[in-house]
Amino acid sequence: MSKEKLRIAVQKSGRLFEDSISILKDAGISIDNGKEQLKASSRNFPLEVMYLRNGDIPQYLRDGVVDVAIIGENVLIEKGQDIIRGEKLGFSKCRVSLAVPKSFNYKNIKDLDGLKIATSYPNTVNEFLKEKGISAELHIINGSVEIAPNIGLADAICDIVSSGSTLFKNGLKEVEVMLKSEAVLAISPQISEERKAILEKLQFRMKSVLNARN
Ligand code: PRP
Ligand code: MG
Repeated sequence: MSKEKLRIAVQKSGRLFEDSISILKDAGISIDNGKEQLKASSRNFPLEVMYLRNGDIPQYLRDGVVDVAIIGENVLIEKGQDIIRGEKLGFSKCRVSLAVPKSFNYKNIKDLDGLKIATSYPNTVNEFLKEKGISAELHIINGSVEIAPNIGLADAICDIVSSGSTLFKNGLKEVEVMLKSEAVLAISPQISEERKAILEKLQFRMKSVLNARN
């Protein structure tokens, strides 16, 4: 039997982690180690799991260092337009939205022209604004984006909204939904034929899990 293994990247910490491990488990794949060890193997399926930072995963896929990943579509739209998008996995549903302080008398997107927007999604925001003919100054920050208007760093923000509780707690309101996202399988454009055959088995199992869940 071939020793070839498929390498899958899974988010190390954050909202996708638990559900990513669950879908693999439900697909009958047992993984030996916890995520403290950043690489783990399956006992019963030719799979190696790598626990990585969300934002690094598109580059690993591009370079062919990993063959496949479980990742939010929003990350691929921002940083991985060249990565192949496979099955939607039905969890980690969210929106990528623009939000402003509650006191902002927002009528339409033109109200943001010339203002400052804080975000971790500069490509997504730029594309959206360009389409609308709006120009804004972007402040790129990697986390806790919702604090920006309160500390005078920006007039508006663009970030992920799931329950809406972070916006609410920071006195912000969602004014434009730029895109909707959920976890997907992302596939390296460099995957070998041999590993593609393993991937097809994995996809078959995942589809059965998803069908059973619906
Ligand atoms: C994410 C995201 C939003 C929030 C959305 O932040 O950046 O801030 O979750 O979820 P909600 O609508 O359910 O409140 P996270 O807590 O992962 O931290 P970070 O921004 O510092 O990375
Ligand atoms: Mg946040």
